[in-house]
Amino acid sequence: MRFTLTAFLPAILFFCSCGQSIEEIEKLPIDEKGKALYENNCASCHGVDGKMGNSGAKDLSESTLTDQETINAILYGNEKGMPPFKDQLGSEENITLLLAYVKSLRK
Ligand code: HEC
Repeated sequence: MRFTLTAFLPAILFFCSCGQSIEEIEKLPIDEKGKALYENNCASCHGVDGKMGNSGAKDLSESTLTDQETINAILYGNEKGMPPFKDQLGSEENITLLLAYVKSLRK
């Protein structure tokens, strides 16, 4: 229980304090959406460059996951502190744009 709370608290704080809503993100031009989705949902733990590692988050610039594994991690999360984002990202298209952005952080 304590683990769950520590893992999710940065995300909860982040969602409450700042960032654009999904409705606002939907209005952005397509080439800005992936970055906006990332900065609003992921940067609190992974950092804008993917390397921050807050709450034990993995360095996304070092990730070697396949596209499908990356999508699964994003949608369903895991028991080691990655939260599930299935209900926060809106459309399939958004997930594809986010995946492309996450991969662009790799070396
Ligand atoms: C509450 C903090 C938190 C937030 C917010 C968060 N993550 Fe994570 N993420 C983690 C943690 C912790 C791990 C490492 C889990 C593990 O060790 O398997 C992780 C792992 C990952 C992985 C797996 C990397 C690998 O190589 O194994 C990916 C991909 C990922 N996150 C993407 C994202 C994306 C994209 C978002 C935004 C939609 C996001 N994360 C938001 C904490 C977070």
